[in-house]
Amino acid sequence: MPQSEKCQIVLIHGFPLDRRVWDACARSLSTQATCHALDLPGFGANNLTALTMADFAEYVAGYIHETIGGPTFVAGLSMGGYVVLELLAMRPELVRGVVLVDTKIVADNETQKTNRNRMIDAARSGPAAIVSEMLPNMTAPGMADRDPEGWQTLQTIMQTVTSKTMMASLAAMRDRQDHTQTIARTKVPVLAVVGALDAITPPACADQVLAANAAAQKIVISGAGHMAPLEAPQAVAAAISGWVDTVARK
Ligand code: MLT
Repeated sequence: MPQSEKCQIVLIHGFPLDRRVWDACARSLSTQATCHALDLPGFGANNLTALTMADFAEYVAGYIHETIGGPTFVAGLSMGGYVVLELLAMRPELVRGVVLVDTKIVADNETQKTNRNRMIDAARSGPAAIVSEMLPNMTAPGMADRDPEGWQTLQTIMQTVTSKTMMASLAAMRDRQDHTQTIARTKVPVLAVVGALDAITPPACADQVLAANAAAQKIVISGAGHMAPLEAPQAVAAAISGWVDTVARK
């Protein structure tokens, strides 16, 4: 695609992360697209506060409106996917295509809500307990040996998230809506990308996207876990790029 036709892609991180989790993937996408990797309120360099998924989505909507000025591709990793779904429900006119990466469209069940409450209590005394609980499940087994630099980046990002932001985000995830009908009804093209070894939102979660929306597509990233954009940035970029290209040409 010529430079003048570059499309815009907004990239949204998961929990407890920030925009840096998309860095390598955004570099690979940059020949085809202008990437906007955002820090959600409370994360990275963003000092704003968000208490609900709708607050996060409003922030992204404001960014798209002010910086891009029209409908754009939006990709969300895990919690970022929940934000994308909320954005799609609230402001569909700002969305040209949705990429749901290592995420799910259903709400938390009662057991998961109870677990969120336990994690909120654990986060009260600092982020360390959440980091050590989540870290082992974030990637495919063996990432620390396979990619020590990526593993270090992941730990560094997770350790910088404040206790206050962790607690607010855990509550926002606990209280988020089920977006099965959002995906079922949308006319916006949808791609689900998932690490084959994702232990938090496994490939069956991407199958729920396809079950809700027959036009949706799914791409499985072999060897990657829940952090597919960090673990296999070129493969994720190729998946997004190929799909965006098809959608943009329609
Ligand atoms: C994330 O990676 O953003 C979270 O693990 C998502 C979740 O806990 O539901």
